[in-house]
Amino acid sequence: MNRESPDQAALKRAGEILLSGGLVAFPTETVYGLGGNALDCAASRRIYAAKGRPSDNPLIVHIADLQDLPKIAAEIPEKAMLLAEAFWPGPLTMIFPRTDRVPLETTGGLQSVAVRFPSDLIAQELIRAGGGFVAAPSANTSGRPSPTTAEHVIADLSGKIEMILDGGPVGIGLESTIIDFTETIPTILRPGYISPAMLESILGEVRIDPGLLKEDSRIRPKAPGMKYRHYAPKADMAIIEGEPEAVTAYIRQQAEKDLAEGRIPGIIASEETLPQYKKGILRSAGSRADDETIAHNLYRILREFDDAEVDTIYSESFNTPRMGQAIMNRLLKAAGHHVINV
Ligand code: TXA
Ligand code: MG
Repeated sequence: MNRESPDQAALKRAGEILLSGGLVAFPTETVYGLGGNALDCAASRRIYAAKGRPSDNPLIVHIADLQDLPKIAAEIPEKAMLLAEAFWPGPLTMIFPRTDRVPLETTGGLQSVAVRFPSDLIAQELIRAGGGFVAAPSANTSGRPSPTTAEHVIADLSGKIEMILDGGPVGIGLESTIIDFTETIPTILRPGYISPAMLESILGEVRIDPGLLKEDSRIRPKAPGMKYRHYAPKADMAIIEGEPEAVTAYIRQQAEKDLAEGRIPGIIASEETLPQYKKGILRSAGSRADDETIAHNLYRILREFDDAEVDTIYSESFNTPRMGQAIMNRLLKAAGHHVINV
């Protein structure tokens, strides 16, 4: 379906499915979402069931009109309105105290609600056709990388949902930045395309959830979803850090050892380093000078490695200036925080 002028008949049908309690997967600018009516507790329960997701992991409510925000958020600080002006519609999710209209099934039992106003036109028109409030987690089976194409959604959820709107590959490829306004100082619970510097330019002070920075499992991230080892590929994965030459030498050596012992290695490299690898299944995530491309390719590559049934994955580290924090957050989770310093 065309992103700029979506198929109206399909959208009408999709809206009717949502209004009658069914599930529709749809593209957004970040990743594909699995949508259900956010105000219908039975629809939320169906979302958890289709994904195989633990029911204490809350859903994001998607809106397509700023006027709808006060209907679901009980207190909206002025600073949040400034962020809405700057970054909505867009890849930013904000957390507020919920109103009674939002069922606890949707918020995973929490008294707060996460809200996002996506910029994707298909997403916006679907939300309007479906009553204005669409709960949508990423449209993957729980534990798999988030889907960045309709084919990824089909691979995970075919037969479990009523409809998939195919808008082609998404733009960003990593989930939205989440910022929590129920804390005294607004706190980033999940890094994404909207970087800390972009948030600080509007808010002044911003905190980062300490649970994100530490591997220490005693410090729990505040977003329940961030504690699970999802985005996870099937293979054993490690991130290799160190001087570039030492990193490529180590990965080359490990890949040869794997092959000699009958294992298939997958390597996540960059444009700059790709020529230095010869053996194993090689993928470039993109150029280090263009980290938006790296973000865009990451989940697709992890899925390709699953399909190729690799046994091990070695990834270079991508501590790039703009999106490095978001990319490394997902990579570290995919690798279960397995980092090898060389
Ligand atoms: O880009 C995105 O945000 C995508 C697209 C589809 O919009 N959605 C998405 O949803 O990534 P999901 O369910 O895969 O991730 C939502 C994250 C989870 O980590 C969840 O724990 C957290 O948001 N979350 C939701 N509501 C919350 C709340 N009230 N308090 C704290 N964390 C919350
Ligand atoms: Mg998800």
